Amino acid sequence: METVLIKNLAQYVGQIVEISAWIYNLRSSGKISFWQLRDGSGFAQAILNADDLPADQWTEANKATMESAVKITAVVSKHPKQEAYELQVKDFTFYSIAQEYPISKKEHGPDFLLENRHLWLRSPKQWAIMRIRDTLIHATYDWMRQHDFIKIDSPIITASAGENTTDLFEIKYFEDKAYLAQTGQLYIEAAIAAHGRVFDFGPTFRAEKSKTKRHLTEFWMMDAEMAFVDLDDNLKIQEDLVRYLVQTVLEKNQAELAILERDTKVLKNIAQPFHRLTHAAAVKKLNQLGSDIKEDEDLGGDDETLLTTEYDNPIFVTHYPAKIKAFYMERDDSGHAQCADLLAPEGYGEIIGGSQREADYDTLVKQIKEYGLKPEDYDWYLDLRKYGSVPHGGFGLGLERIVTWVCGLQHVREAIPFPRTIYRIKP
Ligand code: 4AD
Ligand code: MG
Repeated sequence: METVLIKNLAQYVGQIVEISAWIYNLRSSGKISFWQLRDGSGFAQAILNADDLPADQWTEANKATMESAVKITAVVSKHPKQEAYELQVKDFTFYSIAQEYPISKKEHGPDFLLENRHLWLRSPKQWAIMRIRDTLIHATYDWMRQHDFIKIDSPIITASAGENTTDLFEIKYFEDKAYLAQTGQLYIEAAIAAHGRVFDFGPTFRAEKSKTKRHLTEFWMMDAEMAFVDLDDNLKIQEDLVRYLVQTVLEKNQAELAILERDTKVLKNIAQPFHRLTHAAAVKKLNQLGSDIKEDEDLGGDDETLLTTEYDNPIFVTHYPAKIKAFYMERDDSGHAQCADLLAPEGYGEIIGGSQREADYDTLVKQIKEYGLKPEDYDWYLDLRKYGSVPHGGFGLGLERIVTWVCGLQHVREAIPFPRTIYRIKP
């Protein structure tokens, strides 16, 4: 008999099937036992009736514990009221009988759950989050490919800082030192001269010493880079991509969003164009809202929350003072970077950082020096300005940030299977 996935049970009503699954919950009353099964594809209830099973099987059934794994043979029926399917068990064998499972229905604190992340991943909410993450990853690849972007894998081990020197992870590299990539941007800038539009998508690393609900030390980023664009073109691409990502989740993950109890009103109503606000205007607005942020300061986490709670559509904050942004950004005459951060609404904050890149050799050398960096460390990057330099720009989308927003999570650490933060590298 073929093994059937729980998500496909609707096709087998009235038939006998074989299912392999874990028992995530169980209860017994007299001569009937109920096993709540999970096989990865979905959830279903199995019903064991003492009168339907040989006597030794009924005794065996009573050995079941939470998280034991079973193979059952059962008849499929539709739940009388809900859109759910039930399994009348005719036979079963255990793959394994689980020991007492540490995660129970009662409330556990975040530290306990994080210690047990390898088990916590099985809980319905965590299951839902990982499936939405999976949708966002695949939808990103799909959209990029449909819009003529080629995937170029950037290295993880690098010789110089990609973004800044304050949160670099340094590693020993034989007799030398190296750094873990903060972004693949500089490398994919090289690839645009070969392919026009490119992206990478991989783990990036930042030694973030602060403990916030938005920061991981290892997170996944999709960097996109485009030749012959200006900042407006760049923002338009970001809008289209983000809207597509949200819509794909709404189409594919209704069940998961329901498990997460996500109010999807805002997600459904996303409208283009997104709001645009200069940094100066954002500071002014934030001051009115009670923040003491100054004109030359970056938005802090609290500022992002304060500002984005005001909106139910994503917002671009553009033209930051160049000094508080990265060395490679093009500047205008007033000393503002040609850049934009995309902030998710509902208090979530930054999900994308992007900019126009400085394309002129001499200006870029000057900026590199201004940031205390050494032009010789960037010789290959500067070469790009010597051989066929063109106006270009791009952006980096933080995967866990968009997962956090779309799922409506409190903390970014639930948006990645095994979070790494300042105090946690296990499991
Ligand atoms: O704004 P960032 O620093 O931009 C860059 O790295 C550019 N080089 C990207 C580019 O233009 N190609 O980072 C991009 C995004 C942020 O908007 C945020 O979503 C995410 O990466 N991010 C983090 N996510 C989780 N934990 C952290 N510590 C993060 N730092 C940045
Ligand atoms: Mg940023």
